[in-house]
Amino acid sequence: MNSASLSRHPARNSAVIRRLLRDYVGRRWGLMALAILCMLVTSAISGLIPLIVNWEVKMIFLRKQAEMLLPLSLGVAGVVMLRAVTLFFGRMLLDSLAEKVVAAAQRDMFGRLIRRDLASLNAVHSGKFVSNFLYDATLMRDALTQGTAAVFLEAIQLVVYLAYVMISDWQLGALALITLPCVAWAMERLGGSMRRAATRGMRETGDLSVALSEAMDGRRIIKAYGLEQHSIDRVDSRLTSRLAVLLKAVRLRAAAAPLTDMFLGVVIGIVLFAAGWQSLHGDLTFNAFAGFLTALLLAQQPLRNLSQLWPTASAGIAAAHRIFEAIDEKPAIVNRPDAAALQVAANGGAVRFRNVGFAYHADAGPTLADVSLEVAAGRKVALVGPSGAGKSTVFNLLLRFYDADSGRIEIDGQDIQGVTLESLRAAIGVVTQEAILFDESIAENIALGKPGATPDEIQAAARGAAAHDFIMALPEGYDTRVGENGLKLSGGQRQRIAIARAMLRNAPILLLDEATSALDAESERQVQEALAHLMEGRTTIVIAHRLSTVVDADRIYVLDKGGVAQSGSHAELMAADGLYASLYRHNLESA
Ligand SMILES: Nc1ncnc2c1ncn2[C@@H]1O[C@H](COP(=O)(O)OP(=O)(O)O)[C@@H](O)[C@H]1O
Ligand SMILES: [Mg+2]
Repeated sequence: MNSASLSRHPARNSAVIRRLLRDYVGRRWGLMALAILCMLVTSAISGLIPLIVNWEVKMIFLRKQAEMLLPLSLGVAGVVMLRAVTLFFGRMLLDSLAEKVVAAAQRDMFGRLIRRDLASLNAVHSGKFVSNFLYDATLMRDALTQGTAAVFLEAIQLVVYLAYVMISDWQLGALALITLPCVAWAMERLGGSMRRAATRGMRETGDLSVALSEAMDGRRIIKAYGLEQHSIDRVDSRLTSRLAVLLKAVRLRAAAAPLTDMFLGVVIGIVLFAAGWQSLHGDLTFNAFAGFLTALLLAQQPLRNLSQLWPTASAGIAAAHRIFEAIDEKPAIVNRPDAAALQVAANGGAVRFRNVGFAYHADAGPTLADVSLEVAAGRKVALVGPSGAGKSTVFNLLLRFYDADSGRIEIDGQDIQGVTLESLRAAIGVVTQEAILFDESIAENIALGKPGATPDEIQAAARGAAAHDFIMALPEGYDTRVGENGLKLSGGQRQRIAIARAMLRNAPILLLDEATSALDAESERQVQEALAHLMEGRTTIVIAHRLSTVVDADRIYVLDKGGVAQSGSHAELMAADGLYASLYRHNLESA
């Protein structure tokens, strides 16, 4: 959806505006009312300025009334100062309102984003999201402030000045009025190009953010492969094309006010001519003319501001539309209306897949077909098989990151589609290949496993995960910040913190997806030790890269091309001399 096509949908435009007013401005109507009041007062006061000029000329210059000199000078100073005060409060209140509206919309945007299901989150490029989040929001803010100011400040001031002009001399006023349609016409023409430039600018900003975030995320590869120049060139070309669009917008915006001035120049010329004619041949007084001219000149500023409204407003409406679209995105995986909390008995947590079928993309063939698995409570089961066989997909389905297309998945006899997502996920602990740490302290990272965990609980979990000793050796111990993505720690250390987190979570079911495959032999040994601790008393499903780590599993399922090819204990599978035996031999050779 771009703003050019939006502008052809006035109904949708007004729906976006109504929603913005209802959902965001409405809650802050007191602030809005105050801001509008200040702007109305400003506009009313503005009308006094030409009037005072008129009196000044009449009383001082024409009638030489010396006693009026001081009151009139004080009057004009007072009026202008008062107007400055109301203008300040009007703008300040309006801008604060707009910032609050933007922050509220951003809060909603992120709240909805993070609650979306994994499939739709995967489709969002993080860089683009950040750019929409920040850039679209500022466009919306500008439209809100300028739009409100345009209606209650600029337009009303214009009306006040024009009213003054019409009252003092309607014929001259009518001449001046012909400017408005000309300006409106020119601005509409300019607005069209401006809107297109603004929309392209938003897109370019999104592309630039993508290039930047990819460069930062890929920094290790960029360094290792010496790709700095490649990366600079990529960002450079984004910057160049964005600059071209921005410069076009700059030219258009810069043209708006001078273009208005040009029309106004013509009008002032005509009016001066007509006024001169009248004063030579008719009855126009000099003081009336002076007030008239002042009003005309003062009308220039609101007219200029109004001329910039249309492009800003349409870009803002397009941005608000996108923001609302993001807010309205509904997750596909939600609790059923009749969902109950998952009940897991003490020493429970049996997992069962019954003839499960699933495809990531309906048209690309099934990823899992007719998969049946059984994991008794408290037992350890391993999933092995070639890369791409569908092992991680089994975990994705058990966690309900995706819903199975057919078959049934049960935990302790309860269909996981019939239980709440919160209770389901609370029953499952996950350790993946790459530990995900946030740039907080180590203690906070571990505590994510259990909100409100005490320092003692955190330490106990870290000891269980064989992490306590290395944490204590860090300069600030548990208070050490781990850096972005935990980069200040080694892979094995990060993994042990993730294990401590899972330990604290104390979920009855544990999923380990190649938890040690990114580690060197020494780290792997330490992490295996931590994992052995973590597995005690839990139902565990292990996806293992190195088959030597799962020979002790109670049962091993061999997945191949989305189906269960074999299952049994290590000894049984070796005896069968099938896929497992060949994988195992291959594994030993490469180890
Ligand atoms: N999010 C996804 N979207 C689409 N296809 C996916 C997704 N994740 C995995 N796949 C595909 O599904 C198949 C099984 O993947 P996966 O379960 O990750 O395999 P494994 O863990 O056994 O290596 C692969 O062909 C993979 O390309
Ligand atoms: Mg996998």
